Amino acid sequence: MAASTSEDVGHNPLREGLRMGRMPEPAAMVIFGATGDLTARKLVPALYSLACENRLPTSFRVVGFARKPWKHEDFRDAMREGVEKFSRYPAESESLWKSFSSNLFYSPGNFGETDDFRKLDKFLQERAQAMGVPDNRVYYLAAPPQFFESIVENLGAADMARDQDGRWRRIVIEKPFGRDLDSARALNTTLHGVFEESQIYRIDHYLGKETVQNILVFRFANGMFEPIWNRQMVDHVQITVAESVGIGERAGYYDNAGIIRDIFQNHILQVLTLIAMEPPVAFEANAIRDEKVKVLRSMHPFTTDQVKQDTVRAQYASGVVDGIRIPGYLEEYNVPADSKTSTYAALKWSVDNWRWQGVPFYLRSGKRLVSRATEVSIHFKCPPTMLFEQNHGDEMRASILTLRLQPDEGIALRFDVKTPGQGLQRHPVMMDFRYGSSFGMAALPEAYERLLLDAMLGEATLFARSDE
Ligand code: BG6
Repeated sequence: MAASTSEDVGHNPLREGLRMGRMPEPAAMVIFGATGDLTARKLVPALYSLACENRLPTSFRVVGFARKPWKHEDFRDAMREGVEKFSRYPAESESLWKSFSSNLFYSPGNFGETDDFRKLDKFLQERAQAMGVPDNRVYYLAAPPQFFESIVENLGAADMARDQDGRWRRIVIEKPFGRDLDSARALNTTLHGVFEESQIYRIDHYLGKETVQNILVFRFANGMFEPIWNRQMVDHVQITVAESVGIGERAGYYDNAGIIRDIFQNHILQVLTLIAMEPPVAFEANAIRDEKVKVLRSMHPFTTDQVKQDTVRAQYASGVVDGIRIPGYLEEYNVPADSKTSTYAALKWSVDNWRWQGVPFYLRSGKRLVSRATEVSIHFKCPPTMLFEQNHGDEMRASILTLRLQPDEGIALRFDVKTPGQGLQRHPVMMDFRYGSSFGMAALPEAYERLLLDAMLGEATLFARSDE
């Protein structure tokens, strides 16, 4: 697809996009569970990338809170390692790291101890006063989910949750948001006992991916796709999240979650709602979330018969990849020998509304699959009759629009053309748009960069609302 490139229009749209961003007000980010994997792998590297692009206020500070008896220096050392490995700007100057890391702090404490929260509160107040900035805060729950409720309750008990005197408090919550409907509702009740819904940001990092946000732009900024985006023209939709990695050392979490809770209920459903939703009345948080919720309400829980007929689940076994033996799920560190946890699932579901009635949505995801590929493909209906030659095995082919969410981000349309030469034989070809070549960039911004910045800006569009 011949997309206009930066060269064509004489400027770099990516840089332009970055410049158009608003600067958040001075604030602190408090990370509960700061010694865990997510903080070093995703959160602090994303914050550092934002700092490198001058998108954080100078007085921005991070305070890690966890049980380990670390000092500020231990936290800074651990975060430096994370930044070097995982940030988009690992080799930025020493002086930049120095100024960024001088605003990383650590406050040890127990998630169940209100007094530890009071100490944290005092530390935050003192830092804000010393810097002469308002004590705005984003609390980030990166702790194991069994602690979410006590953290929230203690934020309430230590009076750390209320917006007051012009300074704000927000809370970002990682997945899993409960284990089932009842526990998700219970967590919402606990949250709403302490925070207003407008202060709550339920994060799903898929919504921060450029290509996932692009689903909305692709659908609603171009007049030509919406008229064919429905049951008249679409035969079925496939959403795939295939990973080549295994679970690594995350059995403690993964064996309780499994593929359905880890990928389907959150990432795949978020992508599905953006693909299936109606145009919102405005590009604004609640208008968009209203439409997403309507899609979810059109999807009915599986009956036992549907589970048997329309779903499959599996677990990866050992194998050999590039000559190296890869352990099966049951051999992974800390996985119980008799675990039945699924690491693969595929299912057929429907969105029972006016637009999508009768169009199956096939959803699948797994770990340790042949390659890493996350994509949505819209399979259009075949023409009603075939006018051209059909050789043996050359059935009618549908046109397919594929949104490649990662890697090799882009959009491709497959359709048939005439093979040159005598006769009228058909051959499938691709029109292909690639982010990399059109925008001249090796790596798109990380999802967490966008989402952390949005939370600081009070922009909730890319976060899930309680009714979702
Ligand atoms: C996380 C899951 O939410 O998403 C992981 O817990 C999974 O199991 C990861 O590997 C996939 O994210 P991404 O951005 O690599 O597609």
